[in-house]
Amino acid sequence: ESSMHKELEKLISTVKGADAEISRKDFEGFKKLFHRFLQVKGPSVDWAKIQRPPEESIQPYEKIKAKGLPDNVADSLNKLVVVKLNGGLGTSMGCKGPKSLISVRNENTFLDLTVQQIEHLNKTFNADVPLVLMNSFNTDEDTKKILQKYTHHRVKIHTFNQSRYPRINKESLLPVAKDLGTTGENAEAWYPPGHGDIYASFHNSGLLDKLIAEGKEYIFVSNIDNLGATVDLHILHHLMSQPNGNAASSSWRSPTKPGLTSRVAHEFKSVTKFKIFNTNNLWISLPAIKRLQEQNSMDMEIIVNPKTLDGGLNVVQLETAVGAAIKSFDNALGINVPRSRFLPVKTTSDLLLVMSNLYSLDAGSLTMSHKREFPTTPHVKLGSSFTKVHDYLTRFESIPDMLELDHLTVSGDVTFGKQVSLKGTVIIIANHGDRIDIPAGAMLENKIVSGNLRI
Ligand code: UTP
Repeated sequence: ESSMHKELEKLISTVKGADAEISRKDFEGFKKLFHRFLQVKGPSVDWAKIQRPPEESIQPYEKIKAKGLPDNVADSLNKLVVVKLNGGLGTSMGCKGPKSLISVRNENTFLDLTVQQIEHLNKTFNADVPLVLMNSFNTDEDTKKILQKYTHHRVKIHTFNQSRYPRINKESLLPVAKDLGTTGENAEAWYPPGHGDIYASFHNSGLLDKLIAEGKEYIFVSNIDNLGATVDLHILHHLMSQPNGNAASSSWRSPTKPGLTSRVAHEFKSVTKFKIFNTNNLWISLPAIKRLQEQNSMDMEIIVNPKTLDGGLNVVQLETAVGAAIKSFDNALGINVPRSRFLPVKTTSDLLLVMSNLYSLDAGSLTMSHKREFPTTPHVKLGSSFTKVHDYLTRFESIPDMLELDHLTVSGDVTFGKQVSLKGTVIIIANHGDRIDIPAGAMLENKIVSGNLRI
């Protein structure tokens, strides 16, 4: 630990002024995390010991909705701040730059849709809900350039930067960075330490205090890539009417365990005793965050994320997750929300769903088309030739009609012509060296297309 402190001092001594100040603050947080990491023996989460939460700690959304809404919804909205986690890059979908700037629907990016949603809310209720973006050193510059285009929209946008922590060598447990730069040999030396960083960086940035001073009481935090995470007035009202409401987390109960794609969902699927999946939609009291930060009592398990750098060096990065802090808040409660509030876009398979006619876009919100007969989303699995957004877009001349689709698997070198329609279960497999072009206007219903077999 003392070698780590010495290394950090050395790194700071390579810069002066404001940069050194920011890094010093970041490193204070990192030192605490590193100290805890050294103390924890074994995995920080023991899955075998984890029990289901007691039934009464999780309320069904329907019960909350049944209470109805008061006349003064705008008063509640005026105490709300929407926070989007915007520290991540679009690398997993083959994009450079912030994930929030990927176009998801009619040329609109995640960020565009978010701004439209909040603007619509502000106009409808004559309210003033600001949007706060938690950027990282990876996303801040590109995001700020884009923000200029929303200047005349009816939504105030604030940003703050999350911390920048040093990746550490897996063997020596010391930083791999040579100095505080983020380019050249240091390009992979730093990382944003997960969305659990929000509490410390929001507080350190001064924005949390500023918003409290403006009369804001709650934040609604969610992933910018979850298009279903819109401001829900019933949840907001429920929270506001609690005598000591400090935090609520919306989970979603999975009736059938459909194929979800995020890392957490993967854990979830492997542990059959859990019926509930955390959607990372959190409603949290601002003064409670301030209090817990000041008392240094925000408790989050450490996620040890191993990585191999381009040069082959094995490193680890220590992270935390925003939802893990729920146990630190008194009177926290879970809400079992409908599946529609969980619409993450992690892969191009997810992107295909949200770009298709399964969803309608209204004021930045996506809702399942009423033309679909079943409320479930189809299972879509696009192969590795579709992983990058650019490749995916060139392989579809237009997005197929998917209103009656249940299951789609595509593998190998496959392209889709204009106005293809997919129904039931469709499996298309082009073997190595083969290519399958689905012709324009084709209708595939409960069909397997493979090898040289053509429709
Ligand atoms: P990811 O998309 O990277 O994580 O980030 P995930 O594991 O698949 O999803 P979770 O963690 O289970 O929810 C999810 C959101 O968090 C932001 C990303 O920009 C994205 O909106 N994020 C992630 C940050 O803001 N900072 C980080 O350090 C990591």
